[in-house]
Order: sequence, then structure tokens, then C-alpha cells
Amino acid sequence: MKFIRSFLLWINFLFKSVFFLRYIPDSFLYSLRRDRAESNFRDRAKSGSLISPGRLLEAVATEQGGQFRFEQAELEIDFLLADLVRINWRPGLPPIPYALVEQEWEPVETTLKQTSEGWTIASEAMQMTVSPEGGLTVVDAAGKMLRKERSPQRQGERWIHQADLMPDEQIYGLGERASSLNLRTVQDATRSVKTYRMWNYDPGGRYPPGTDPMYICIPVYLGFHQAGSYLVFYENSFRAEFTFAERATADFEGGSLRYYLTTGEPAHLLERYTQLTGRPPMPARWALGYHQSRWGYRTEAAIRQEVEEFQAHDLPLSAIHFDIDCQADHRPFTLDPQRFPQVSRFTQELIKQGVRCIAINNPGIKYSRQSNLFLEGCVLEAFCTYPDGALVVAPVWAGRMVFPDFTNPKVRDWWSRQYAYLLDVGITGFWHDMNEPAAFVLWGDHTLPSVAQHCLEGRRGDHREAHNVYGFLEARAGYESLRRYRPNQRPFIVSRSGWAGLQRYAWTWTGDTICTWAAMRQTIATVIGLGLSGIPFTGPDIGGFQGNPSPELYLRWFQMATFLMFYRTHSSTSVQPRTPWAYGEPYLSIIRSYLQLRYQLMPYLYTLAWEASQKGYPPVRSLFWLDWGDRTLRDIDDAFCLGDALLVCPVLGEGHRNRSVTLPDGEWYNFWNDHRISGGRTIEVDAPLEQMPVLVKAGSVLPMEDLEQQQLTLHLYPSSSGEGQGYLYSDAGDGEGEFRIDRFSFSRRDQILELYWDKEGDYAFAYASVQLQVHGLSVQQAWVDGAQGIPGQGMQITCGIFERICLECAE
Ligand code: GLC
Repeated sequence: MKFIRSFLLWINFLFKSVFFLRYIPDSFLYSLRRDRAESNFRDRAKSGSLISPGRLLEAVATEQGGQFRFEQAELEIDFLLADLVRINWRPGLPPIPYALVEQEWEPVETTLKQTSEGWTIASEAMQMTVSPEGGLTVVDAAGKMLRKERSPQRQGERWIHQADLMPDEQIYGLGERASSLNLRTVQDATRSVKTYRMWNYDPGGRYPPGTDPMYICIPVYLGFHQAGSYLVFYENSFRAEFTFAERATADFEGGSLRYYLTTGEPAHLLERYTQLTGRPPMPARWALGYHQSRWGYRTEAAIRQEVEEFQAHDLPLSAIHFDIDCQADHRPFTLDPQRFPQVSRFTQELIKQGVRCIAINNPGIKYSRQSNLFLEGCVLEAFCTYPDGALVVAPVWAGRMVFPDFTNPKVRDWWSRQYAYLLDVGITGFWHDMNEPAAFVLWGDHTLPSVAQHCLEGRRGDHREAHNVYGFLEARAGYESLRRYRPNQRPFIVSRSGWAGLQRYAWTWTGDTICTWAAMRQTIATVIGLGLSGIPFTGPDIGGFQGNPSPELYLRWFQMATFLMFYRTHSSTSVQPRTPWAYGEPYLSIIRSYLQLRYQLMPYLYTLAWEASQKGYPPVRSLFWLDWGDRTLRDIDDAFCLGDALLVCPVLGEGHRNRSVTLPDGEWYNFWNDHRISGGRTIEVDAPLEQMPVLVKAGSVLPMEDLEQQQLTLHLYPSSSGEGQGYLYSDAGDGEGEFRIDRFSFSRRDQILELYWDKEGDYAFAYASVQLQVHGLSVQQAWVDGAQGIPGQGMQITCGIFERICLECAE
């Protein structure tokens, strides 16, 4: 049996290898052609010597701040808000404001004064001093120095910007990174300073921890030190390199040096950054459920069987993903009609069972006169070209492909019309892949030539500027399409690549990670880092994409992902099929219990999604979010918080049955057994196979549901100090209708617990009954809205809607 299995796997491997070999000739030719085109333009950008701004000649107050004229540069400082500043150095190519939400900023009162150090420009929240050489310091209202920037330098089209870092300063962000959470670190092997590149990158089907760059690079970072914290966002999409040693260095290959700076605690920084670059729209509720995927489903029958297996194993499922093998010849916007003979009926059948269909789409279009999209695109002049006007043709899955230029509004509009037919046959959402854009090469960069030409909203430019916004703009086209064709449904797009502001249009996932314990651990820092870069809805391929996880690795990964926003198993075509039942017992039963827990936690997850849409807070957050003054929390990247109530501690090694957990200050409950633990220290917690350690912060109200019973359970976790709160957002789960917010607050005096319920909004309460579950205490008697007392039932009370409930409890 074992022999037959190995033999079949070997045949499969051989078959797949031959499949990949077919791309070699085109990859070779494309790599040659790209090099030839690029060699004519090499180093044009970095010509000449480094130029500093020179001496300050003049400073003038403006409506929003001030303008400063130097011998060889100009500086404009605009206060958009009292604590949000736009800093613009010229000369340089002004950015196209893709990242930004269009908005009018109210005037901010500022004063400009000459001092012994230069010129000071201040609002009520911060003060910036411009030195006579163009250095810039940022001080908060309390007079604390937050950031000290050197005068920038330029060389041809290149800009280099440096700021001194405090000795204890830690840095976070930069989009998607397979790095430690704190980016100010040295590379282990060489002890050299790590360089983070800004160039969206497909590592080619598998990546281990440490890979850089990755699919989503965003030039935004947060700096924390003993005096305070700030966020900087460079509005520049050109290729760049960042390092964080004694200084933070940002080195852009072109564009202008325009950046935004804001100060405050992490939550405030995210609020400001997403005020600038946009907040994610509220997702449909189903999207927070479990998604199953595999590169390898080829037919309607195979997918139907997979869905039936979920039902047979009593496993909830919200979406199934159709990868490229479902397409006709791997072409975008297709499903193979022979393998999907009755697709409309099929998708309706799945939707009735609560399962949405998500179809993959790659941006490349087959270079073939047999392809309508190719012919239409040619007429529209939709494709990226070399400087001599020839089409850029590079191999991807479907063979030789051309690439739509999403920086052209006409092309985005044309592209967005293509979604209609898949929507008409019942596809609900889209999965944008290979949109860095990726191209198969034998050497060099896995993408289009730097010299590829782009429209850039009519002002024209090349791929050096357009590359990092390519996937972002595809997501914009897709999002607008779904809004247009399905106005009553919230769009669902998951995009592999992106840039600042991607959160306005799409979710993402962490790509083709390998299947190791280290890769699972890496996911934590990557997801938190994405959240700190404004992208809250993300998660990994459960079990890793490339390779076969051990049953325990898959299980532990599954447990972790139960608490991440995007909850999907996905795997490569060359590995063994991966499903919750693939490893038998006890894994299946444990996975089932986590899936059930996920659906019970839906009210909490949905409320966090709403918070993200309102404030830009990432639901999955670092421990320092809870207590940012505690330095010990800032390097933790083996645990994370889901909202403010839950601390999730994944188990990160084979055979591990306990782990250490560093608790932020305060009191905590063990989610599994209600043990009360005091925080502000590191403890050991049990982690049997069926339990990943999860802790609940005392003072929380955790809303959970049982849909079958139509029951909402409010889990109260009292703290000894007595106060606590939580809230619940609800609406119809999709569309634009009414909503409601139920706020709960409780206080404790000795053994009496009082809980208040405030309601806001017109959406009808969705549950038939409410249960209160008091943790750590036993309820003796309850008085609902002043009515006669009802006897307690241990830890639980079942009731209806109330305004005030009074509980007499015993320890
Ligand atoms: C890329 C994607 C992966 C997908 C595969 C085939 O490698 O990252 O998720 O399964 O392409 O479409």
C-alpha cells in the first residue's frame, strides 16, 4: 500500500515537473529580451553626484504651514490635522495620489517662528523645526523629541532620506514582511543590517522565513522609543530600499520625497494612517467563515465531492476557491465549460448550502489572436509595452502573456467589465493572483522590465513607478466592478499583491509559504505587520502552501488560524490533498471543534471587522497594543491579540504540550478552564493537542453565538477591580442596510455584579434568547430590570433583552 502511494506521488511529481519544463524556452527568451531592453537604460536614474538642499534662503508661512526655499531644493510643510503633517521636498516627480482617499482637510492653526535652531512651525499637537541645512526635528506637545531627520539628498532622480533612531527605538510595518516583527534587527548569519526592499515580489512558488521582499511592499513604518511613537508614510511607489541601523534610511530610485508624519500611540497612528489611505469596507459576514481551497480541483464533480465531504464530516464551510486548474487553459475570467458543464446550477446548489464560490484570476492575457481579450486589449492599447512600442510578452501559467496596464483608467474600466459573466454564473468573489505582476524567468527579476511603459493616469512613466501599484490597481478595478454589478453585496476580493491603501479594495493572504513550524511562526509577525501597515484582513494558507505538513503541524496551524481574519486551507498542486479529515483522528475531531468555535466567535469577529472599517484598527494585533508602554511586549512574535479581549498563543513545535506566555499587565483568564492569572509576567501554560492556549483579559465581555439555537451568549470575565465592557455590532451580514450596536458595561461591588445594556441603531435584534455566562464566579440570584429575583444556574443565566441586570455571585 505504502509502495503504491509513493509510486503514485512520484508519477505525480514527474508529471508536474514536465508541466513546469514547458515554460523554460519562453522564460529564457523573455529574460534575454528584458535584459536587452533594460541595458539601454541602466543607471540613468542614479547619475551625477549627491546633492543636499544647501542653505535655507527663505521661510514663508502658508495657510496650512510653511514653505522653505533652500539653495537647491524647496520644502513645503502642510498640517492636514494638528498631528498629521505632509512634508514635500522638491524637485521630484509628484506622485499620483493612488494611496490616498480623496478628502478636503480643514485649515489648521499653525505658527511659524525663527529660533536659534532655524525655523519652527507648530500646531497645538506638534512642533517641527527646520534647520538652516534642511534637517527636521519633530517634537510633541509635551516637548518630547520624537524624530530627528537629516537633510535629504538627491542624485539624479533618486532621493535618500535619513532619520536618527534612538538607541531603544523599534520599527514596525513596511507591509508584508517575512521578518521579525520589530524590523530593526540584524541578519543572523552575517550580523549585517537587514535591507528591506520595496519591490513587490513573487518568490516563485515557495518562500522560507527571511525572504525579502514579498508580495506587498508599503513604505510606511512606525517607530517606538522611550519618548513616544510616530508613523511615517512615504507617498512614493518607486523601487526603494529601507534599512534601520543607527539611522533609518529610505532610498528611493525616483519620484519625489513626499511623506506624511503623525504621532501618538499605536491605535492613534493607525487611525490617522487609515484616515489618509482609507479604511477597509465592512466585509460580508460569510467571508469570516472557513474557506477551503486547493490548487488541483479540476472539475465540478471534484468540488461537489469536497463540499459533500464537509457535510459528511459535520464541518462548517463558507467558501470554496477555484484555482487555475478550473479555468480554460489557465486564462483569466474563464471556467472550462467541459469540466464545469452546468456551472450556474452548480454555484446555486452550493450557495443554498451556504458555500460561496471564489474564482482565481491572473492579470496576464494570452498573447493569441484566438483570445478575444487579447484582441480587445490591442485595440484599446491596453497592454504594457517596451519603450519602442513592442508589447511586453512574458510567460506565466497560460503561456506567453501580455499585461494590462492598470494605471490607465480606460483599462481599469475595461477590466472591471470582464467580471460580469463570472458573477452571472454565480461566482461570488475573486482571488487576484500573480499580480505583482509575476512573470516566469530563468534569471533576474520575476516581473516586467523596469522600462515597461505605463499610462500613469495620462502623465506616462515606466514600470519602476507602476510596479508596486500594479496589483493594487487591479484590486481597485475588481472592487469597482463588484460594486457596479452587485450593488447589494459587499465585494470580496483577495489579492496577493498590493500597496498602500489596498485595504480599501481587498483582503490578502501570505502567499506561498513553506510547510514548516518556522514558517507557521513567521506568519504571526507577517500578519501583525500587515495590520500595522493598514491591511487588517489577512491570513496564511493553513498548513503552508508548499510541502506536506505533519498532522500535528496542520492541526496547530489550524488552531492558530481560527483566530485570524482570513481562515483558509490552501495548498500547492504538487502536495497531498489537504482537508480537515485528511489526517484522521484525533485530528479531525479537534479541527471540527475549532471550526465550531470559529463560528461561535462570529459576533466578536464581525464586531472587530466593523471596528477596522471605522477606525482602521487591525483585529489581529501585537501584544503591545494593550500596553504600549511595556517594552517587553514589543518584540513578542509568537503570540498575538485578537481584539482587546483575547490573547492567542499558538503552539509552535512538534510534540509541544505546553508553552510560555508573556502576559501584559492586568488579570487574565485561561479560556479553557477559567483559571484566573495575574499578568505582567511570563508563565507556563498547558497545551495538550486539543488546546492551543488562549487567554481572556479580565474586564471583557466576549459575545458568542449559537446560530441553531438563535442564542447570543455574553461571556463576562470580571476583574477584581470591578469594571468591564464590550460591544457587539450586527447587521444583515451583507449589503447596505440597517445596523445596531449593543454596548455592555459591568461593574462589580464585592459579590454583586451589575450589567448595563445600551442599544443603538435600528437593525432588529437577531437572537431569540440571551445567555449570560459569568466566568470565575457562580451566580446565586439575578434581578432583571428590577423584576423579582430569579435563582442563578451556576455560571449561567438565560434571559431576554434587558437594560440592567444585577447578579449576586459567589466565588
Ligand atoms: C500561486 C499562488 C497560489 C496558487 C498558484 C496557482 O503560486 O500563490 O496560491 O495556488 O499560484 O494558481
